[in-house]
Amino acid sequence: MPETSAPATPGIPPSGPFTWPYPRWIAHRGAGKLAPENTLAAFQCGASHGYSMFECDVRLSRDGVAFLLHDDTLERTTNGRGLAGERDWHELAQLDAGRRHRTGAAPTPLPTLEAVARYCLESGSLLNIEIKPAPGVEARTGAVVGRLASQLWPRTAPPPLLTSFSIEALHSAAEAAPELPRGLLLDRLHPDWLETALALGCVAVTCHHAHWRKTAVAQARSAGLRTLSYTVNSMARAQRLLDWGVDGLITDRVDLFRPQALAADHTTGSAAKAS
Ligand code: G3P
Repeated sequence: MPETSAPATPGIPPSGPFTWPYPRWIAHRGAGKLAPENTLAAFQCGASHGYSMFECDVRLSRDGVAFLLHDDTLERTTNGRGLAGERDWHELAQLDAGRRHRTGAAPTPLPTLEAVARYCLESGSLLNIEIKPAPGVEARTGAVVGRLASQLWPRTAPPPLLTSFSIEALHSAAEAAPELPRGLLLDRLHPDWLETALALGCVAVTCHHAHWRKTAVAQARSAGLRTLSYTVNSMARAQRLLDWGVDGLITDRVDLFRPQALAADHTTGSAAKAS
């Protein structure tokens, strides 16, 4: 469950001078509806639809390997059972995330963050790493993911954007990798959302699409923060968010929203038109 509120965390500076390198459209969990979510197959599927940036969920195995999985448990997306965080990586590496998918995909392994970094750097793709800690290991997960991301991405490449619902995880990531850009994830606009994002030195706020308001987007922008929204699967909603000035839309519908066609449409003012 997302943390609902937390006191502002003092002492975390912003990640430093930062030119926003990310595109408007981001494929959710790779392209996790058309292919098994949070796998390299999903990234490849998103890329085949013209996406150059992917959102994914990263957590830790029992022995501290950072890998991609959304849920605390294995059942929904893999042929494993129980809590993922109670398994060592050598066990998790044997699991199949393909056949559980509604498309009945070919056997597909869970990727490590290291493998995903390699894919992104080789293909020129950008990444939004959602730090998704299991309960009780928020600080450890933030620290490990932050440190590892800092090591995996060279300073010459656009850095991964680290986001989390967990303030503790973001705080640890900021300590481990202060140079990496951070974003606060919100399931709704809590009373102290802006103060919390600023106290964590975030460069962005990512909120559920139903909860952004025009005034809140303007508030974030006035405070120097970029705004993103998840999971935007409707044309009308996308258009409204873009009209308000939201910078990034995370979507499952890579088949509906085609970044290249949409970039062309922006020149004529129609933001959310399918190709
Ligand atoms: O990171 C944005 C979005 O994916 C957050 O929701 O439930 O998919 O992790 P969830």
